[in-house]
Amino acid sequence: MSVTLAFDVYGTLIDTHGIVSELDELVGVKAKDFSQAWRDKQLEYSFRRGLMQHYDNFSVCTSHALDYTCAFYKVELTNEQRSTLLQRYRTLPAFIEVPDGLTRLKEAGYRLYAFSNGTADAVDTLLVAAGIRDLFLGVVSTDDLKSFKPNPAVYCHFLRESNASGSDTWLISSNPFDVIGAISAGMKAAWVQRSQEAIFDPWGIEPTVTVGSLSELIEKIDRVD
Ligand code: 2OP
Repeated sequence: MSVTLAFDVYGTLIDTHGIVSELDELVGVKAKDFSQAWRDKQLEYSFRRGLMQHYDNFSVCTSHALDYTCAFYKVELTNEQRSTLLQRYRTLPAFIEVPDGLTRLKEAGYRLYAFSNGTADAVDTLLVAAGIRDLFLGVVSTDDLKSFKPNPAVYCHFLRESNASGSDTWLISSNPFDVIGAISAGMKAAWVQRSQEAIFDPWGIEPTVTVGSLSELIEKIDRVD
């Protein structure tokens, strides 16, 4: 049976900090910190909504996190600026090596899926804008279960939807909580360490492999499988 790869989207394929140039104009020198705080709050809101079983979709987590971050940094956006930023978030860029890395994996016979907290519609829009949608067999969203990663149920949902088994499936993610979630649910997982400063959680649950970019994946996965 061929090996299935479940690609996390935000932060792994798509650069959530691709919005910094737009933020530069609105918040100036704090743009990078603002972008990081926005992303951290977005994830915190998804964790909290998951735990509370008070679901609203990931785009709502993103917009509430933007409002929180504006309040924290005392940035007042007009309605138009706010909706322009959120619209831009729907077409964030892919990391530079992603199209080529995915193409090589697809040509090598791996079954490629996008697997995200984002709704299927939001993920489709991102992947189409980045010109990589056609490389995937499908998009699986945690929205189907009205929950978020790392709820173990969403990893089982992915396996069901992709008709794959845990032992033949890898999660590929830059998010340590996602890697730990997938391994705990019986999958293999590659951690994409997108920067030297990124730290993996010291829980004693290690990624199956660690790579610096998607370009290194084929070689490392082949060695394990
Ligand atoms: C994703 O599911 C966790 O943001 C990440 O795309």
